[in-house]
Amino acid sequence: MSIKVEDYFSPETFQRMKAFADKQETPFVMIDKQTIADSYDQLVNCFPFAKIYYAVKANPATEITELLRDKGSNFDIASIYELDKVMKTGVGPERISYGNTIKKARDIRYFYEKGVRLFATDSEADLRNIAKAAPGAKVYVRILTEGSTSADWPLSRKFGCNPDMALDLLILAKQLGLVPYGVSFHVGSQQRDIDVWDAAIAKVKVIFERLKEEDGITLQMINMGGGFPANYIQRTNSLETYAEEIIRFLKEDFGDELPEIILEPGRSLIANAGILVSEVVLVARKSRTAVERWVYTDVGKFSGLIETMDESIKFPIWVEKKGEMEEVVIAGPTCDSADIMYEHYKYGLPLNLAAEDRLYWLSTGAYTTSYSAVEFNGFPPLKSYYL
Ligand SMILES: Cc1ncc(COP(=O)(O)O)c(C=O)c1O
Repeated sequence: MSIKVEDYFSPETFQRMKAFADKQETPFVMIDKQTIADSYDQLVNCFPFAKIYYAVKANPATEITELLRDKGSNFDIASIYELDKVMKTGVGPERISYGNTIKKARDIRYFYEKGVRLFATDSEADLRNIAKAAPGAKVYVRILTEGSTSADWPLSRKFGCNPDMALDLLILAKQLGLVPYGVSFHVGSQQRDIDVWDAAIAKVKVIFERLKEEDGITLQMINMGGGFPANYIQRTNSLETYAEEIIRFLKEDFGDELPEIILEPGRSLIANAGILVSEVVLVARKSRTAVERWVYTDVGKFSGLIETMDESIKFPIWVEKKGEMEEVVIAGPTCDSADIMYEHYKYGLPLNLAAEDRLYWLSTGAYTTSYSAVEFNGFPPLKSYYL
């Protein structure tokens, strides 16, 4: 299977990025800021009523947070370190949500002292910490969702609670002097089944109604998390189709009286803007008669490609050489046998591929730099350039 660049980048953008890449030593990822700006505008057009909170974990580079700051984005923050980094660029606390449900009491206090008043939770212990460390704050409860088989990078199980427990927590929030503000969910990253949002929104609706009718609590917000698609090998519906369907689900359940809607995109905003460029270190066969070649390259699971774990995310790989293709195993440069990116899903690369040829890993703008190890096997973290 050969990758057509035109399916991922306009020829002009690719030429511009390639010309830059030709002057750099591999490995590195380069990110085209215009593509991010366009993705942001597209999301705003698709969901004009929603408030966007960029999930900083997808790529915390200041070049990106500043761009999104200037476009009016808010920020979903996972730690005190992300908080400091984003606030340093002049973003005010009213544009920040502490979206991580797993946090220390002293970190909640830190956010509160910085002025943040919006917190996610999914457990009683965390809620009680918020009540003590962030008195009077707005809280939203994250619920568990289905869809883990249709998401390429599922986020189920570890986060969220059963809707019954969400009810208990929102009632308790009120008793503890907090503002029971809303409900959140995340259907799993790179979620390919749009219907999963339908089921999640229906669960939220039940929580809204039960609290209103039985406890006199009026919730005000739904945080629909991320899960919107990037362009990888396995194609998805367009963002427009996602939006049309999700808006239909919202209207079916909430009519024209929509609560405040928050979106927390990470991957869908950033991934398509990135190209990771690596170099072939070696091409080898494991026996005299082996048909399969191993292509070892100078990036791997520990230098930005951790999402190839279980071959979950299948990045499109483009090479300049053309000609007869043959199946390959693609592996990284470290002395760790887990450092194999693709073995079961059969990538094809040209038979004449050789050491020093370059691999262009498309759609690698999200969850690459921030996942890169600092010194595994002595290799430095993945370099990144923002164009
Ligand atoms: C709380 C939260 N919001 C948003 C996101 C971003 O999701 P995505 O990259 O699928 O857009 C994540 C990803 O892990 C998350 O944990």
